Amino acid sequence: MTIRAKMKSPGLLFMATLMCLFLALPVYGEEKKEAAAVAAEEAAPKLEVSLELGRVTYQHYCTPCHGVKGDGNGFNAPHLLVKPANHTDSKFMSERNDTKLFDTINLGGVEVAKSTLMPPWGAALGDEKIKSLILYLRELCKCQATKNW
Ligand code: HEC
Repeated sequence: MTIRAKMKSPGLLFMATLMCLFLALPVYGEEKKEAAAVAAEEAAPKLEVSLELGRVTYQHYCTPCHGVKGDGNGFNAPHLLVKPANHTDSKFMSERNDTKLFDTINLGGVEVAKSTLMPPWGAALGDEKIKSLILYLRELCKCQATKNW
């Protein structure tokens, strides 16, 4: 009996070591993940609001509906029940101030009593890209807001 127990103990010790490793590994993994997230945040360049950033963001996210020229004739437009706005229409665009444009892009059409077919972009884009988009929209319409609402 005692001999048997002695023979088993190295196996038990081995098992115990393995269990400790298994328990410790996820903790080590979490620490590594956290360090990676911090490093990524530090490495991410701070976005500057600019016309160029607006142009690139518009081409990527807005042209499927609003069109490459911004005139509302994107390839997706014929499939929508509501026609996407024509951003080159200076009369239409000058009736919207920058705050209203920000709210529309950030929270979607429904926020400004317009169609839900205009999606909300805040979560995907963030403030800097939305402000850059507004610079680009003002270039597309060659206009500024004429009224303050
Ligand atoms: C899935 C299609 C779709 C995409 C993609 C889209 N829009 Fe729209 N957008 C619409 C539609 C449809 C309307 C018209 C809503 C209405 O008149 O009720 C609209 C309207 C607008 C308006 C005018 C709202 C008003 O005050 O009348 C602005 C500004 C606008 N979109 C900006 C953008 C920007 C900037 C992007 C890219 C980040 C974008 N949209 C992407 C469909 C889209």
